[in-house]
Amino acid sequence: MTIEATANEQFLADYRPYPFDLKQVALEFDLAPAATRVLAALDFQPRESGADLVLDGGKQIKLLSLTIDGAVPDAAHVSRDDETLTIAAAALPSGPFRLETEVQIDPSANTAFEGLYLSGGMFCTQCEAEGFRHITFYPDRPDVMTTFRVLVRSDQPVLLSNGNPVRQEPGLAEWHDPWPKPSYLFALVAGDLVAVSDHFTTRSGRDVALNVWVRPGDQDRAGFAMESLIKSMKWDEDAYGREYDLDVFNIVAVDDFNMGAMENKGLNIFNSKLVLASPDTATDADYERIESVIAHEYFHNWTGNRITCRDWFQLCLKEGLTVFRDQQFTADMRSAAVKRISDVQSLRARQFREDQGPLAHPPRPDHYEEINNFYTATVYEKGAEVIGMLKRLVGDDGYRKSLDLYFQRHDGDAATIEDWLQVFEDATGRDLTQFKRWYTDAGTPRLKMAEDWGDGRLTLRFTQNTPPTPGQPDKPARVIPISVGLIGPNGDEVLPSQILEMTEASQSFSFDGLGARPVVSALRGFSAPVILEREIDDATRAFLLAHDSDPFARWEAGRDLALSALLQLAQGNMAGDDYIAAIGQLIADENADPAFRALCLNLPSEEEIATRLSARGVVPDPDAIHAARTDLARRIAETHEALLSNLYRLMAVPGAYSPDADAAARRSLRIAVLGLLSRIDGGDRAEVLFGTAGNMTERMAALVCLIRRGRGQTALRLLEEEFGDNRLVMDKWFMIQPMVAPVAESVQIAQTLAKRKDFDWKNPNRFRALLGGLAANHAGFHRADGAGYAFTADWLMKMDRANPQIAARMSTAFETWTRYDAGRREKALAALQRMAAMEGISRNLREMVSRMIA
Ligand code: ARG
Ligand code: ZN
Repeated sequence: MTIEATANEQFLADYRPYPFDLKQVALEFDLAPAATRVLAALDFQPRESGADLVLDGGKQIKLLSLTIDGAVPDAAHVSRDDETLTIAAAALPSGPFRLETEVQIDPSANTAFEGLYLSGGMFCTQCEAEGFRHITFYPDRPDVMTTFRVLVRSDQPVLLSNGNPVRQEPGLAEWHDPWPKPSYLFALVAGDLVAVSDHFTTRSGRDVALNVWVRPGDQDRAGFAMESLIKSMKWDEDAYGREYDLDVFNIVAVDDFNMGAMENKGLNIFNSKLVLASPDTATDADYERIESVIAHEYFHNWTGNRITCRDWFQLCLKEGLTVFRDQQFTADMRSAAVKRISDVQSLRARQFREDQGPLAHPPRPDHYEEINNFYTATVYEKGAEVIGMLKRLVGDDGYRKSLDLYFQRHDGDAATIEDWLQVFEDATGRDLTQFKRWYTDAGTPRLKMAEDWGDGRLTLRFTQNTPPTPGQPDKPARVIPISVGLIGPNGDEVLPSQILEMTEASQSFSFDGLGARPVVSALRGFSAPVILEREIDDATRAFLLAHDSDPFARWEAGRDLALSALLQLAQGNMAGDDYIAAIGQLIADENADPAFRALCLNLPSEEEIATRLSARGVVPDPDAIHAARTDLARRIAETHEALLSNLYRLMAVPGAYSPDADAAARRSLRIAVLGLLSRIDGGDRAEVLFGTAGNMTERMAALVCLIRRGRGQTALRLLEEEFGDNRLVMDKWFMIQPMVAPVAESVQIAQTLAKRKDFDWKNPNRFRALLGGLAANHAGFHRADGAGYAFTADWLMKMDRANPQIAARMSTAFETWTRYDAGRREKALAALQRMAAMEGISRNLREMVSRMIA
């Protein structure tokens, strides 16, 4: 890797169509770990005369031969730089022509896991966003779509690629994908794999063979992924009228994978942690995540593959929509209320955090240096929120009509956000000019609400304001759908939810004919991704927590109550009695969904408290926050000990483990209760549970409590003895220790773990487990002496030489650095500067670090 002195900025405004059509592609792979040969035949048709043919292709590719219509062009007309190969227009026919290349690549040297690489001896690929250019020379951009024929020669027993199988013989397989696709959806797998197989009959009667491919021995952990796939296929037919379009659908689990999973046409490749699950190795959260990611990748077949993106600036066109669809799916499969609350929780934890700091960017960015740095919470999760708002504004029917039109009009296209919005305008007649700001403007709007009351009339006055973000100092008003309901003094709803459409910087809405002053339930269902600021006292919050009919708003009232106490405590004031009293009523409410009660019982994370404090202009003190949260948890346990002990017994799930939503809900409440009780029982219950639980969900929960009480050693040892050779369980083992460790020990624990032989740091899951575990320990990572920063920076630099994508992604641990005190800031900045000065730093990490320092 070389130092890149010049910035490689790409701009949305510079988009130009590719000057050639690509009619079809035939590829031949001769697989060998260190010397794989790739033959490519590309049939081009010029769209304009006089254009040079520029192909993407990294410098690791060895070019063996190149012909145009069978003839070798004059060497003077062929040139290469580090990233492209160019054939001058003078060497090209004016009509259609065939370019054939033969190249050699070295998958065994590919530690960046981009392009073709090896994972545990098996060949696999990851091409999104720009991995195909590491395989062969090609117009590696999403708006160049074509059909692929792929021949694979290898002695590996299972040989897979996209589309339908044409030929399967020992040592050889041929695949044909009839659906034109961009190169980022290409995939190839060759390995010693076994399948869990099933089939699905689509609503028009097409029989589809389904396979989940895993390593021999893992078959008994692939069944849940298969069930999830079948549910997803059915759901997309029922909810969106979308049917599958090939004879086979293959999923492959691989151990070395940069991201979660990838929607390659007909051949999804998954991080093995999102496929493999058994009760003794996976938690309820793992099961739920597997179900939703299997759905996500499957749903991409229409939103992503059949309709793809014109360029990478449009990434949220496929990702925001597909996240929105997988959220709808999970809401239908499980509890919609619980799903909504957890989605908001993670939006706030990840996207609001991103929006508040130096890495803030709009869901559709208009410039970047390295596209892999933009697979972010803003593009994915905020991208999904924006679609949720659109749906709220046009209504369910309008949404349905718009989506039907989108599929009809753009099937086979590489589309843009403008195309997407146009569809909604045409289907519903609505002007979306102002709405588009949600796509183009960064930052989380602050929404202030004030109330006026008199003569039976309630007036709500709203003001919106979005703080500046990098490159965007001023933000015009956005359209904000605000869902509001009114609750009478006796707790009955006097006005059911309705959407107020705010379009101005300040705007009032009135409600007449009210007998008594109602309590306002605002931003129900989290109807817009904003920060609501209202003057409200704890008594009103407690009232909403007891009476609100909207589950999100009800949870939010409890959350605000907890936060109000924690913010006080973190600043050295006594507080919390109101919250402790209110929470007692809620946990005693046997009619409430256990999962909902669990969500209400879990205190806001230290990170969230810090984010809230900083949004109010207070410099967060990580140690004080940690102490405040610990203290409040202990007080809840002391006050409600009898109630909690009873609940702990009551919520035990009898019989064999099942990952279904009801059983998982009971376990989640039981675990939340255990977390509180272990603050005062010395960890005794946790020790019993760890020894007796037959499932990983409860064992992990117990382990967290034990580590927190400083008595995790035995349990950790037992787990290692039992699962030392199970990578996924050991990832949990690596993560949990620095994450839960006492603040003063966390960095040292991470250092010790990093010296172990099985800290296989080049494996992205293992690296993320350790470094991510430490970063998730708020007070530990932000230790005042800067040890957390220094340790993390050391490892990011080491990782950057092997795998820049992972280093860049993990560098977001630093994205909040500017909000802390001067001492911490100085140490964080020193760590960032040390990385910036690293010789040979990748484009990925350099872009991240320079945005954070700027
Ligand atoms: N499209 C994949 C998904 O959302 C993610 C691929 C991310 N790849 C990357 N290089 N950042 O399911
Ligand atoms: Zn996706």
